[in-house]
Amino acid sequence: MTNSQTMKNSQSPDVADRSAATLIELVDLQKHYHMGTTTVEALAGVNLKIHPGEFVSITGASGSGKSTMMGILGCLDRPTGGKYFFDGEPAGELSDRQLAKIRNRSIGFVFQTFNLLPRTSAIKNVEVPMFYAKRIRTRNFALEALEMVGLAGRAHHVPAELSGGERQRVAIARAIVNNPKLLLADEPTGNLDSYTGAQIMMIFHQLHASGVTIVLVTHEPDIAVQAERIVQMRDGKIVHDGPVDPAKRVQAMEETRRMAEEKQKRLQANS
Ligand SMILES: Nc1ncnc2c1ncn2[C@@H]1O[C@H](COP(=O)(O)OP(=O)(O)OP(=O)(O)O)[C@@H](O)[C@H]1O
Ligand SMILES: [Mg+2]
Repeated sequence: MTNSQTMKNSQSPDVADRSAATLIELVDLQKHYHMGTTTVEALAGVNLKIHPGEFVSITGASGSGKSTMMGILGCLDRPTGGKYFFDGEPAGELSDRQLAKIRNRSIGFVFQTFNLLPRTSAIKNVEVPMFYAKRIRTRNFALEALEMVGLAGRAHHVPAELSGGERQRVAIARAIVNNPKLLLADEPTGNLDSYTGAQIMMIFHQLHASGVTIVLVTHEPDIAVQAERIVQMRDGKIVHDGPVDPAKRVQAMEETRRMAEEKQKRLQANS
């Protein structure tokens, strides 16, 4: 037996599997927008691997290409160059129909502005992705997803009858109802006060603990350090990619838990 085999066998199967599997792989990914005579290089050669079960934050200045990259990761948009492999599949070479299938079955998306159907109840909003995935018994599953985000009691409210944090929780329920492998969140706490944002982060931590891979874009350092790894972008490129200091992560998560509990207590006191 060689040294490398000995090392591999001495690892737990989980560690060995996780280092081998790749859920997302970007190879020299490019997205160029042609605007008249000028070209905007929104992504200028991005290389990135994300393994199943990871929790990754994406940070970087406004205009650095974060949302463009998330759109491609979520199969909402296509690159103009390079390759994107999702779960081993070459996403850039798939038909629109095949991409839609991956998007519906395997990927959940949460946006800063919630993007709920305005005249539709919470539960019906959560049912929408199940219709596209041709699932049955959608009511029960939608209710379970709303329960997971603590909103079963608001199932029949339309978005205008919900607070910002509640709307975002409905959006998370909608994103997870098809049990996606990958949850993409583009500044999900950007429109929320920090206490409500803490409640949203607690839901992401719970989903991560249950095995969902999470990629989260944020401008807020206190949120970014709650992931296991931070990827920083500048001018359409990755300029830093590394693990979060575990002590900083634990501290930020504890503060988040404290704020989420405080918010919950205030809500209970007011009701
Ligand atoms: N549809 C488009 N047409 C032309 N240019 C675009 C388009 N979408 C984005 N861009 C440009 O691509 C660059 C990256 O935009 P992107 O939205 O990815 O940035 P971002 O990092 O998400 O910024 P923010 O933090 O402000 O959300 C910007 O220069 C932007 O102006
Ligand atoms: Mg953006």
